[in-house]
Amino acid sequence: MRRYHVTTFGCQMNAHDSERIKGLLEELGLGEAATEEEADVLVFNTCTIREKPDTRLAAHLGNARALKERDGERVIAVGGCYAEAQRERIFELYPFVDVAFGPGSISHLADWLGAGGIGVDRGRFGTGEERSFAAELPLHRERRFQAWVQISMGCNSVCSYCIVPKVRGREVSRRPGEILAEIERLAAAGVTEVTLLGQNVNSYGRDVGSGFAELLRAVDAVEGVERIRFTSPHPKDFREPVIQAMAECAAVCEHAHLPLQSGSSRILKTMRRTYSRERFVALAERMRAAVPDLALTTDLIVGFPGETEEDFRETLEAVEEVGFDGAFTFVYSPRHGTEAATLAGQVPGEVKRERIERVVEVVQRVARERNAARVGLVEEVLVEGPSRTDPSLLRGRTRRNTTVNFSGSAVPGELVGVRITDATSTTLRGEQPVAAAA
Ligand code: 5AD
Ligand code: SF4
Repeated sequence: MRRYHVTTFGCQMNAHDSERIKGLLEELGLGEAATEEEADVLVFNTCTIREKPDTRLAAHLGNARALKERDGERVIAVGGCYAEAQRERIFELYPFVDVAFGPGSISHLADWLGAGGIGVDRGRFGTGEERSFAAELPLHRERRFQAWVQISMGCNSVCSYCIVPKVRGREVSRRPGEILAEIERLAAAGVTEVTLLGQNVNSYGRDVGSGFAELLRAVDAVEGVERIRFTSPHPKDFREPVIQAMAECAAVCEHAHLPLQSGSSRILKTMRRTYSRERFVALAERMRAAVPDLALTTDLIVGFPGETEEDFRETLEAVEEVGFDGAFTFVYSPRHGTEAATLAGQVPGEVKRERIERVVEVVQRVARERNAARVGLVEEVLVEGPSRTDPSLLRGRTRRNTTVNFSGSAVPGELVGVRITDATSTTLRGEQPVAAAA
């Protein structure tokens, strides 16, 4: 049997697209190989949000080229956001690549690879107009009881640093009926946790006569769905009905990933985020008032063009003021074709590195304090498997999306109560309470 290997970079949307790519390849009769070395078809599902994933991909492709030199029959396919961003140049940059496809043209992969065998129609590329929902393709799911569900594709925002709107195109919502039908199928197959995916989930539905709040309520009503997560919302579109739905739907988890990006209203303006620090803080307060125990995590960029020491300090202050439960922190990376890459006042690398260290320190301290407040509580944990660091412990996640390593006996997929005994900035420790003797 011929075999494939998929290497995935980037966000959850990409991870989910990879499940579709695998599903398609399996439908073509290929089996999954454990390593790139053992595979006949090598797929790289790429990301291009910052320079780092571009560099990592180059290293992987170097390795793939060496494998192809050993066995010329090997097929190398590059998909995802980097492929789309470099569509004019990809075959020049990497002449040994056989197939390239953007995030909207996964469905064409089967045609390019050839339905019967793997005869490759070399060098084809889907056009933006042909974009279609990967959600209609076969699916190879990594996890039995958890699933990603795509609700929209593309993004209509114009954040000046971000390449995503350019590579993923304008926003298109999937019809609510299709989304619900998929979730019902998943729930019937044993899925209890669904994560709704879109580049901007809470602008969902404007083009199909629906809305994100309505969608949350409809998913909440699906039998068997115990936990609903979503990523990512844009603060500018996070309106009252969604907050109310979060507060009222039992299955919607007490967590929101709400990207702030910067604590300086001046920088937010040049980022074209369309909210100020004050508006963000007020939103966070309204959400926390409506949803007790809500965990808020965020994304932060340091070293955006024109960011002064004063602007940067406002980011540090905002982290304290909001009290984020966690944050992904990024050094600004100029992306070719974005507005910010052409702005004056690019911040020197040395200053960016110093700022990222300082912001990480504050994020970790605040998150540690927030996690420490959970010690002594019993949290509902969805068991995922053994702990990654200590196999004698189990690992799972709370509704607030914090990883817990705990002692006890439970099987993956089970929802159990865990008493929290210890906390770091990113994980909790706990134990399953011993049942009182009868
Ligand atoms: N440089 C650094 N970080 C970026 N992000 C998006 N574009 C860039 C860039 N050019 C970050 C944002 C976004 C997250 C997914 O990646 O914080 O929310
Ligand atoms: Fe990377 Fe953004 Fe594409 Fe996700 S959508 S893979 S983060 S560039």
